[in-house]
Amino acid sequence: MSNEFAGRTAVITGAASGFGLEASRIAARLGMNVVMTDVMAEALELSAREVATLGGTVLPLRADVRQGDAIEGLAQAVLARFGTPHLVFNNAGVATGGLIWEHSAKEWDWVLGVNLMGVVHGVRVFTPLMLAEERRDPGYVGHIVNTASMAGLLNAPNMGAYNVSKHAVVSLSETLYQDLALVSERVHAHVLCPYFVPTGIHRSDRARPADARETAAPTTSQRVAQAFAEKAVTSGKVTAAQVAQNVFDAIVARHFYIYSHPHALAAVMTRAEDILRGENPSDPYRERPELGQALRQALRR
Ligand SMILES: NC(=O)c1ccc[n+]([C@@H]2O[C@H](COP(=O)([O-])OP(=O)(O)OC[C@H]3O[C@@H](n4cnc5c(N)ncnc54)[C@H](O)[C@@H]3O)[C@@H](O)[C@H]2O)c1
Repeated sequence: MSNEFAGRTAVITGAASGFGLEASRIAARLGMNVVMTDVMAEALELSAREVATLGGTVLPLRADVRQGDAIEGLAQAVLARFGTPHLVFNNAGVATGGLIWEHSAKEWDWVLGVNLMGVVHGVRVFTPLMLAEERRDPGYVGHIVNTASMAGLLNAPNMGAYNVSKHAVVSLSETLYQDLALVSERVHAHVLCPYFVPTGIHRSDRARPADARETAAPTTSQRVAQAFAEKAVTSGKVTAAQVAQNVFDAIVARHFYIYSHPHALAAVMTRAEDILRGENPSDPYRERPELGQALRQALRR
């Protein structure tokens, strides 16, 4: 890999686990200053200690990406220590499932707060700093990578709040790309759309702050969704390390869309064809009707 990264600074949210941790490892090996941020304080400290053995300079800073003032504070700390970052990876996310009308108001707040507002704050706070640096320094190149999901390009059933949050991140990122093209030559936007990959995402509850905790017992659809997510995520064959490498490769190649499972894009084509032909949404279990049948049965029990 050509190393346009050494000595430069990366800010990575959701860095205590999964894609964020793997991206932190790559950034450290490339000799970057790595600002690792996460809401899980203890896991963040442990991960940062390990990443610091790989190279670069590591700065762990706890922040809850839902909170705009926390991200503003994070940016001030980054500026004070390393100056304007070259890579901002807005990656923190949580997953929940269940029938769309069964998410509580608190659940919507949490999922949209982390998955969407976390990215909004990252873009809102860091983009102006990066554009100002581009004007100041003719050698400056910046990259903003937002983590969405294939759930941002499709709408599988029984995971509504997650789908909504990730479609919004794709929209935000495509708009960011177009807006940057109006005013900038050297600050680039990218969107990461992974399919199921083994990480801690099916255990998102461990990162649920006290104010987002549910008091009611999970509904049948929520229990079914949890079991499905566990199976789908843990049996994924592509690793989080490979996905993080895809992110760095896409930065070097200036590719906007970043995928983990390109073959899954056939379903995006089906969705686009449905829209263009004015047809009703296709059965997502067309290829594997037994899965759809099992889900229907589980939900009607
Ligand atoms: N693993 C997959 O199959 C998959 C597929 C598509 C998209 N994604 C997305 O990838 C991103 C990374 O998730 P992952 O799969 O590595 O899961 P993960 O659970 O291993 O990592 C997510 C990290 O985000 C952190 N986080 C959660 N809430 C936070 C908050 N309020 N503030 C700061 N940090 C917070 C968690 O503590 C955790 O360390 C997420 O946006 C997720 O939606 C994952």
